[in-house]
Amino acid sequence: MAINYDIKDPSLAEGGRYKIEWAAREMPVLRLIRERFKKEQPLKGVRMSACLHVTSETANLAQTLQIGGADLVVVASNPLSTQDDVAASLVMHDEIPVYAIKGEDDKTYYQHIEAALAHKPNITMDDGADLVSELHKGHADQIPDIIGGTEETTTGVIRLKAMAAEGALKFPVLAVNDSLTKHLFDNRYGTGQSTLDGIIRATNILLAGKTVVVIGYGWCSRGIAMRAKGHGAHVIVTEVDALKALEAVMDGFQVMPMMDAATRGDIFVSATGDIHVIDTHHMEVMKDGAIVCNSGHFNVEINLKGLQAMCQGDPTLVRPFVEQYTMKNGKRIHVLGEGRLINLAAAEGHPASVMDMSFANQALAAEYMFNNAKELTNQVYALPADLDMEIARLKLAAMGTQIDTLTEEQANYLSQWQEGT
Ligand code: ADE
Repeated sequence: MAINYDIKDPSLAEGGRYKIEWAAREMPVLRLIRERFKKEQPLKGVRMSACLHVTSETANLAQTLQIGGADLVVVASNPLSTQDDVAASLVMHDEIPVYAIKGEDDKTYYQHIEAALAHKPNITMDDGADLVSELHKGHADQIPDIIGGTEETTTGVIRLKAMAAEGALKFPVLAVNDSLTKHLFDNRYGTGQSTLDGIIRATNILLAGKTVVVIGYGWCSRGIAMRAKGHGAHVIVTEVDALKALEAVMDGFQVMPMMDAATRGDIFVSATGDIHVIDTHHMEVMKDGAIVCNSGHFNVEINLKGLQAMCQGDPTLVRPFVEQYTMKNGKRIHVLGEGRLINLAAAEGHPASVMDMSFANQALAAEYMFNNAKELTNQVYALPADLDMEIARLKLAAMGTQIDTLTEEQANYLSQWQEGT
């Protein structure tokens, strides 16, 4: 085979293919886009580098971009999220160069990003903005070749907006996360289900009757809190934003400062995008045996270095993805998935049905960027609202759900201001 790649084991490809096909059954919107892309070839000749979680859902996106004419390289956007069989199938069956190995160390992770940049992309596709960040830091000479980028996640969008605010961003980026058909569904229902899935697969504990502390109340945390409640857990939410805290209270959750929640929780889940939201002074007062994990993009939310410094010896791996830290006073804290996003580390990420909408946005974002970059400046943009709405329409249709349309009388009423009481 003529392509280069770095994956765990090419012989895993057959199992990977089944997984990709299984996910495809739940991705009808992406399938429609793929059929159109096959005919229209909207990305013909575009070199693309995608830094995404290498999952069966991502494989369906990669195939869609390839069939649309893109010359694509895929690399991991997290050291622990790769599905090695899927990576093998993309290489062996689709001849897409993939650089991703589950459990790769940080050095290999960045070598893989270098491989994505060595592809000399015209369009970047990121989940967390590592590709764009490395490109700007070490490969500024490649910027003239870049048409633009797309970004999948809240954390990446925050980073990119920080770059744009400083004037550091040198090409336009479409924030897929800002689409309603992305964050209202992927972040909430996707993260809600897959995070609980990751915690349960890693620990096999019963959630009913436990106290689950959810740190943050953005869209991801809302999903986690809602699903933990559904399992019968008593859910406490911690927040720094008064409006979000108020929503959590009115959604029926107990809200309190993290220092108070720390003494009460059995399981702690962070999804804030910020650093050390589970810090040493919190872990110091937690119950013996407390479980802590993170579902935010980066592994910065739990202060693991600080925890290690409070412990005697290295942690013990007591089950796959469960490390037991023993403090000098004998208290044990269980950290799941090395503090990396637990839904992709210990489970398989969001189910295909929500990734269908997220990746429909990604595919349309790549096409939109290719066709419209000239009208964009070096800022972070949402996708046009009509594309977002079209994805919602297609998803509803695929689910067999019909909705009403306004009558002429109703449409007229909404466009006038004279008629009141
Ligand atoms: N992010 C969260 N879940 C995912 C999945 N299944 N595939 C790709 N990226 C994801």
